[in-house]
Amino acid sequence: MPDRVLRAIAQPTIDHRGPDFGVLGREVLDGLKRVFQTTSPVVIYPSSGTGAWEAAFVNTLSPGDRVLMFETGHFATLWRDLAVRLGLDVEFVPGDWRHGVDPRTVRDKLSADTDQAIKAIAVVHNETSTGATSRIGAIRAAMDEASHPALLFVDTISSLGSIDYRHDEWNVDVAISGSQKGLMLPPGLGFNAISEKALEASKSARLPRSYWDWQPMIRDNATGYFPYTPAINLLYGLREALTMLAEEGLPNVFARHVRFAEATRCAARGWGLELVCAEACEYSSTVTAVMMPKGHDADAFRKTALERFDISLGAGLGKLKGRVFRIGHLGDFNDLMLAATLSGVEMGLAAAAVPFARRGVSAALEFLARP
Ligand SMILES: Cc1ncc(COP(=O)(O)O)c(C=O)c1O
Repeated sequence: MPDRVLRAIAQPTIDHRGPDFGVLGREVLDGLKRVFQTTSPVVIYPSSGTGAWEAAFVNTLSPGDRVLMFETGHFATLWRDLAVRLGLDVEFVPGDWRHGVDPRTVRDKLSADTDQAIKAIAVVHNETSTGATSRIGAIRAAMDEASHPALLFVDTISSLGSIDYRHDEWNVDVAISGSQKGLMLPPGLGFNAISEKALEASKSARLPRSYWDWQPMIRDNATGYFPYTPAINLLYGLREALTMLAEEGLPNVFARHVRFAEATRCAARGWGLELVCAEACEYSSTVTAVMMPKGHDADAFRKTALERFDISLGAGLGKLKGRVFRIGHLGDFNDLMLAATLSGVEMGLAAAAVPFARRGVSAALEFLARP
């Protein structure tokens, strides 16, 4: 999190029904549209990303509606569980947690659905648990090829503001996101970007909704206000983060993350450790999940690295518990921060007596130093 954002958050809280608040509200709502690359409405909840997942479903679907989801990893699985608890009829396409969603599977499943029972498909853009991204443009093309009217939901929680995400160009119906990753903020804000088609679907959707209802949000957002108390100080931070992203320019932000991810993979190769993501065209720009050598516990290594070098590495989640560690390289991050991160991993591997080759940091530095 950048100091600029933290300082912005520290400003005194203002009255969210007072005259000044509407200006802040409009600024962040408009700025977010630019980050989602959309002209459609974006709503902001005082919630974590999970709330924004729920909001996408309850605003657009009815009990028993069929939803096609894909087992790309831990977060896709949690999202499936949420859909099931809401009373949706989920088909969960099995996966090996090493790949994104295959657009051919989308095309084949939708083509076979001749009576159009499937009302929506839901895809996690960047699976934070595996470091595999799904190609949303290709998935949209597959849906078009099948000429299927299902809504497209995309979780952009660990991609927005760091991996190129094009809401309008890819014709996504509801994008779900959160404040705590590419937007460089603390947790506490959840977002939905909403297409015209999703708004239309919300008119007949029958899942119960109150707190998450888009209608009062969109009505009050027109003047920059909210139907209930917004997370005012996080909105100050959001305004600053949006300014920083605009100053750098989104294409530069995306390119910076691509480069950090490649340097991290150079390090993993140098260590002789395998990546979880098995497909080069699906490598994540924001997180790299690395397999531990057989017989070595990733959590024991993470504990050693934390205790010795104060470096907090991501745990293996769900099925990958104890088998992988994850290196995050997103947000307010630069070459030297990455160099320090990779050095911490290399020193931690040595301190935990994990068998590996000590060529990771040097390979990454060589890559980063290229003109
Ligand atoms: C891809 C993805 N989806 C959903 C979530 C859940 O979001 P939250 O923990 O903010 O509720 C996360 C959290 O890390 C995530 O990475």
